[in-house]
Amino acid sequence: MKLLVCGKGGSGKSTITALIAKSLARRGYRVLVVDGDESNLSLHRLLGVEKPKELKDLFGSRREIFEKAKNLGIRRIEEIPEEFVARKDRIRLVCVGKIHSFGEGCACPMGALLREFLKGLKLNENEFVIVDAEAGIEHFGRGVEEGCDAVIFVLDPTYESRVMAERIKSMNIDKKMYFVLNKFDERFSDFLSDLDVVAKIPFSEKIFLACLKGEELKCDIEEVEKLVDTILNQEHARGSFLQY
Ligand SMILES: Nc1ncnc2c1ncn2[C@@H]1O[C@H](COP(=O)(O)OP(=O)(O)OP(=O)(O)O)[C@@H](O)[C@H]1O
Ligand SMILES: [Mg+2]
Repeated sequence: MKLLVCGKGGSGKSTITALIAKSLARRGYRVLVVDGDESNLSLHRLLGVEKPKELKDLFGSRREIFEKAKNLGIRRIEEIPEEFVARKDRIRLVCVGKIHSFGEGCACPMGALLREFLKGLKLNENEFVIVDAEAGIEHFGRGVEEGCDAVIFVLDPTYESRVMAERIKSMNIDKKMYFVLNKFDERFSDFLSDLDVVAKIPFSEKIFLACLKGEELKCDIEEVEKLVDTILNQEHARGSFLQY
């Protein structure tokens, strides 16, 4: 199944993506992490893999991405050309594309490519795709969630996160939503009356230090394991694994 991880800037999307990927890999799933953030550069470090070549380099120009992304022709994880995949154990990483130079234009081609790549990909029952989205909600405008089965919305304990989560909820996006509180602080609970929260991930010194140093996230966080249990149970119940 395919999960889209989104939320406000700095809420912990990349951290949660990497922790979930590692947990699923330990449980025997083959996990493809998709770096869908065109700005930040270090997701590969949290996963402990090399930086792969960017998928956008499959095309000669931005215009070509718009014209040809729909016919990308990648239907299975193993069909992704080798140089575009970084791997370690059961985890693979692909990167859609980064902004590299001043004035190169908006990131819309990357959004279109991400959407079509996800829509086209077919998975086996033991395969997971986890997408680390760019900050904010623009990817919903680009339809990136269309190819995903469920969305994980990561909140940090800020007013801005709460307002964004409420806005997402009111948009009635046609996807299963999992709201996850990250860097959890008890005081946040008072403000969350209407959100169906599935996990509260505490502030962790190990996570903080790994992110500070740009090191692989090697810690097991009990609440992340519970979150993965919840997602697996609910998605099995919804039949998300049967449709592929
Ligand atoms: N559970 C946690 N415990 C401690 N620190 C955390 C935790 N989660 C995230 N952080 C800290 O928050 C910072 C931001 O996390 P992360 O890069 O995962 O957020 P993000 O939502 O992906 O950010 P961006 O919007 O820039 O992509 C990290 O560098 C790390 O210092
Ligand atoms: Mg990030």
